[in-house]
Amino acid sequence: PLVLHVTGARPNFPKAAPVLEALAAYPVEQLLVHTGQHYDDKMSDIFFRQLGIPKPDVNLGVGSGAHGAQTAKVMEALEELFTERRPDLVVVYGDVNSTVAAALVASKMGITFAHVEAGLRSFDMSMPEEINRLVTDRLSDLLLTTSPDAVAHLGNEGTAPEKIHLVGNPMIDTLLKNEARFDAAAARADVGIEGDYVVATLHRPGNVDDPEDVKALVAAMHAVADQAQVVIPLHPRGRARLEQAGFLDHPGMRVIDPLGYIEFMGLVRGAAAVVTDSGGVQEETTILGVPCLTLRPNTERPVTITDGTNQLVTREVLAERVREVLATGPLQQWPTPPLWDGHAGERIAKILARAVGAAEPVRA
Ligand code: UD1
Ligand code: UDP
Repeated sequence: PLVLHVTGARPNFPKAAPVLEALAAYPVEQLLVHTGQHYDDKMSDIFFRQLGIPKPDVNLGVGSGAHGAQTAKVMEALEELFTERRPDLVVVYGDVNSTVAAALVASKMGITFAHVEAGLRSFDMSMPEEINRLVTDRLSDLLLTTSPDAVAHLGNEGTAPEKIHLVGNPMIDTLLKNEARFDAAAARADVGIEGDYVVATLHRPGNVDDPEDVKALVAAMHAVADQAQVVIPLHPRGRARLEQAGFLDHPGMRVIDPLGYIEFMGLVRGAAAVVTDSGGVQEETTILGVPCLTLRPNTERPVTITDGTNQLVTREVLAERVREVLATGPLQQWPTPPLWDGHAGERIAKILARAVGAAEPVRA
């Protein structure tokens, strides 16, 4: 049987890596598709090199574009590929445009379809990802979830319970597998900073697309930089807008290019706090025990608040929260979500293999 994985954007790669690896133990053929949604080396290829992900079998080369255009290009190319290769199962990861495009094509072609990281809900329809999550989950045959709240959301929406599997978090598999490589001292030396620092990542349209939001964001981040050095590996989205709004005009602000996974996690591990609007970073800080201040009105990952180190903040209270976190110092103890144990990929692979009739692994 042929299992076809669709990836394309930065957060897909650390989620797909453990699934690809674990599924290799079963008698299935795997085809890895990269849609080309992300294409800069630091947004894409570096993850394959650092995480030992096999080179994609196919790159659709869709590139950037407006939502409709980008999603349509992925759909068109995938329809052709699925027609040619006839996969028995298509697997997607997370909530990006490449994911929803694959969901639409696979479901209309009657191909069994699995969503890794199903059921997350921010209930905020102004987020493109929320739309992608809702559509993808509605069309999925197998819904693989990271947390009990995700299972509950799917149940509330009427998804048949036998389609839903709580498997844990494959992103955390990647983190735990590579943790020994996260070198805070080296990361700090590379960036050239000494003393306490805060790492920030910002790329949500809700923070960086509107000029008024950007102005307020710059002021809020400068107030953080008054208290500690801020290192920001800045996503290409919004970079120009932030820089035009004077983001760099503060001696405590260090804006750098996006980092490779290993360097980024090294920097996060050594940080006094993280300020972010990323989804994955809320989860990673929860496992590393680094306080996470999420600059958003909501999160689809509330488990990182109840069972982790995360809290939601507004621009208005951000600097005050950073002050509190710096005063508290490193966390000694913190809760972590159930099943974020480094074995989600194996659980997912078992379910996928069973779905294509290849239940018994050929090697352990
Ligand atoms: C996408 C996802 C978002 C995810 C983020 C992770 C959607 C709808 N959004 O947002 O959920 O959190 O990826 O990083 O799928 N660009 C480059 N180089 C690249 C890729 C993008 O310069 O390699 C620039 C382009 O100007 C592009 C912009 O970034 O227009 C946005 O890229 P896009 O893939 O549309 O969305 P992201 O904001 O990256
Ligand atoms: N990441 C990285 N380098 C960076 C920023 C992020 O390696 O400079 C990693 C990190 O592991 C994060 C993942 O990329 O969890 C995806 O992050 P992103 O914020 O782009 O996507 P989201 O999770 O918000 O969809």
